[in-house]
Amino acid sequence: MEFQERIRRKKGREKIVVLTAYDYQMAKILDGTGIDLILVGDSVGMVVQGHSNTKSVTMNDMIYHVKTVARGAKETPIIGDMPINSCNTVEDALRNAKQFLEAGAHGVKIEGNRSEVVKALIDAGIPVMGHVGMLPQMAETYRVKGKEPEEAEEIFRDALNLDELGVFSIVLECMPQSLAKRITENVKAPTIGIGAGKYCDGQVLVVNDMLGLDESFKPKYVKRYASLNEIIKDAVAKFVEEVSAGNYPDEKHTYH
Ligand code: KIV
Repeated sequence: MEFQERIRRKKGREKIVVLTAYDYQMAKILDGTGIDLILVGDSVGMVVQGHSNTKSVTMNDMIYHVKTVARGAKETPIIGDMPINSCNTVEDALRNAKQFLEAGAHGVKIEGNRSEVVKALIDAGIPVMGHVGMLPQMAETYRVKGKEPEEAEEIFRDALNLDELGVFSIVLECMPQSLAKRITENVKAPTIGIGAGKYCDGQVLVVNDMLGLDESFKPKYVKRYASLNEIIKDAVAKFVEEVSAGNYPDEKHTYH
């Protein structure tokens, strides 16, 4: 069964689990863990490149990362995140989405309600994941969206429109749980929440966040399932200690 169908069929039956990855080794670790999709997010701009937002991420950056992830993920479908300015026109969107597929992605994610572009990609047979709510490519500040009724209605309508166009899933980012529930109950496509509460059909997190790699980044919705920052620092401290004391390399780690 093709991956879009597998994801669609899970709605109302099983939760969908998605994580981001940006490189070969992480993709290799995630592959076969039971996650449904790997998202090569443009969050790469923040968690890998160290920028304060995703607005400087380019198509070249994204293609590089999709290629590295594709070398590690042999089973898990990969979704490439269309970066800012990559789909300003239908022609740009088609050309760039095809580049993602050639690099090893199985589909693309597009932020916002861009009907013309989404329709053109779907008509061309390219699986599209929608994304509504907080849209980092457009946001001036990161905040929960849809608390006010008017904004909530706009997000709701955007989700309905993307659903009508035939996206295979929709990311709901940073919104009140009640709005995410309403969207989830009114669209055919599975919803994948991030900061959108428990009623979504699935959840996505940035892998670096859930593994606790950056101690300084902790929005309310992020649950840390590990504290890799501490583990790495402890390991490095031990290395410094052993090298300084002349205890590494020992016999076991030396060629003769
Ligand atoms: O760029 C990204 O990683 C994303 C997810 C947070 C949904 O868009």
